[in-house]
Amino acid sequence: MPLRIRERKPQDTPAILDCMRELQDWERNIDARLAAPDDVLERLWEEMIEDCDVFRGTVFVADLDGAVVGYIGVLTHVAQEGTAEVDYVYAQITDLAVRGQYRSQGIGSALLAHAKTHARGAGVRWLRINVRAGNPAAVAMYRRCGFDDREIVLEHDLAAG
Ligand SMILES: CC(C)(COP(=O)(O)OP(=O)(O)OC[C@H]1O[C@@H](n2cnc3c(N)ncnc32)[C@H](O)[C@@H]1OP(=O)(O)O)[C@@H](O)C(=O)NCCC(=O)NCCS
Repeated sequence: MPLRIRERKPQDTPAILDCMRELQDWERNIDARLAAPDDVLERLWEEMIEDCDVFRGTVFVADLDGAVVGYIGVLTHVAQEGTAEVDYVYAQITDLAVRGQYRSQGIGSALLAHAKTHARGAGVRWLRINVRAGNPAAVAMYRRCGFDDREIVLEHDLAAG
């Protein structure tokens, strides 16, 4: 079946929201502090569209024979500003998900490769993605696709002693 990675169209929104729901559910299994999809999905989507406006972002979908089975959001102009670092601009992948039954067929890697090409084409050098430590499959895929660790956020559950 032909797979096409393309920019989202307005009529893709319901299918993207289905993918987003799976992403939120997936991450919620890793971190119980994440909100239930029904409580946040519409707001997350609105925020993504706003971020695309502000940070020159695009949402691409994986179109398999006319069905949207995955998506990726990539912002290409995020400013790194702060006293400790020199100022520069980086790209940020905000979301990446492939619907459950379509995983392990190379679709996630294809979305990621497309986002990399897109970011490079935008003239930016650095491409970032945040991932939960409890998501080793995603971490392994990112490493295979050329990503290296940049920052590790540690957290202590003080209730656990
Ligand atoms: C992470 C995620 C996007 C990866 O998407 P995917 O389509 O399964 O990714 P790929 O198929 O490209 O790669 C995943 C696996 O398939 C294998 N694979 C790649 N191309 C393949 C192909 N043509 N045929 C069979 N397997 C293939 C890869 O080796 C990889 O192996 P693994 O199971 O050891 O990891 C997907 O699993 C997902 O949506 N997960 C839930 C949400 C999530 O974690 N998102 C990331 C948040 S940061």
